[in-house]
Amino acid sequence: MNSLAGKRIVLGVSGGIAAYKAVEICRRLVDAGAHVIPVLTKGATRFIGRTTFDALASEPVQMSLFDEDDPIPHTTLGQTADCVLVAPATARVIGAYAAGISSDLLTATLIATRAPVVICPAMHTEMWEHPAVIDNIATLVERGVHIVGPESGRLAGGDEGAGRLSSPADIVAAVGRALDAGGQLADMAGLSVVVTAGGTREPIDPVRYIGNRSSGKQGYAFAEEAASRGAKVTIVTTVERPDLAGATVVKVDTAQEMAAATAKAAKEADVVIMAAAVADFRPVDPAGVKLKKRDGVPAIELEPTPDILASLGASKPEGQTLVGFAAETCDVAGNAAAKLSGKGADYIVANDVTAENAGFAYDTNEVLVLASDGRTHPVGLRSKRQVAQAVLDMVVADRTSRADTQENK
Ligand code: C5P
Repeated sequence: MNSLAGKRIVLGVSGGIAAYKAVEICRRLVDAGAHVIPVLTKGATRFIGRTTFDALASEPVQMSLFDEDDPIPHTTLGQTADCVLVAPATARVIGAYAAGISSDLLTATLIATRAPVVICPAMHTEMWEHPAVIDNIATLVERGVHIVGPESGRLAGGDEGAGRLSSPADIVAAVGRALDAGGQLADMAGLSVVVTAGGTREPIDPVRYIGNRSSGKQGYAFAEEAASRGAKVTIVTTVERPDLAGATVVKVDTAQEMAAATAKAAKEADVVIMAAAVADFRPVDPAGVKLKKRDGVPAIELEPTPDILASLGASKPEGQTLVGFAAETCDVAGNAAAKLSGKGADYIVANDVTAENAGFAYDTNEVLVLASDGRTHPVGLRSKRQVAQAVLDMVVADRTSRADTQENK
């Protein structure tokens, strides 16, 4: 199924060095059957010639708010578009859109449209991290605008850092998602997905346990998102939350139980998402009866639990995608990178659980996704469901491009 076929997509290109990548995005959208109308800002034409888009897109480039044939091109574009995509989006375009200021055809179209909007920021790290840009992005997220990227990596002028435009494949996948409001796209249809959620409980005695602060919200958000995209979902969970329609729920308590249930379910899975906070240690010999205070402070000997993710990584079937998590309190990127290679995962979703509004119990999260091929993809503060969406977009795009490569061999 392809949600892009026959859709009118305004492709806004603003003036950043990443504008050259918009050519590839344009080509991919046209290949998917979309009708692409390029709208370039004046700045964009300093980086890329309009002739290229004239040749590749479905219509010639538009740039002016004033057109001889159409007195109000921005309204026409805004009203007839099924989606407005801006890639790359500069700090200026993001700021103007957030503030409702229309100073050129692109910003006017953004304000005139009621269609889904996908914004793909690209700029230097200093700009991306400026409080004004952070606030503008938060405003747009609140209004339901889809933000894709940016990624971290090499920037113009040889600098490194956050601010690089997301890959054309990720951007096109996100446009497909934005157009699929009803969930008919089902880009995970036919995939079997296993998600773990919650924190394990390791008994000390029949009433006490060693636990952690995981709420299971991020795991459930993954399960819900995967199910809404058509996947067959099994959730191995320590927490009771409202049942997911159509998903298989396996309730567990300890790391040992989670290991057994996950290993069984993962054998046939296409994607395994280890969102659970699994205890690393458990009491060697839990008491059979409740420990009494009068008997004094107990000495509880601990032993390691099985590392579920590492053993799944070691026995990963061909073609399976394995996603691990790293809840960190310091050196998030460094610790996550070590986990990625140490555990044989394809991705590690890392978060700083001490950050404001992110991590345990919150409804929002902010993560850094590390892929085993070295790519990093920061996902700024947003709902846990939107975090799940961003990670699954990446998983689906990578699985699709891998399948394409296999086919072309
Ligand atoms: O090593 P650490 O516990 O920080 O790694 C976190 C990742 O490993 C998470 O994806 C978690 O679900 C998984 N994990 C596991 N088994 C353990 C400990 C962690 O699968 N015993």
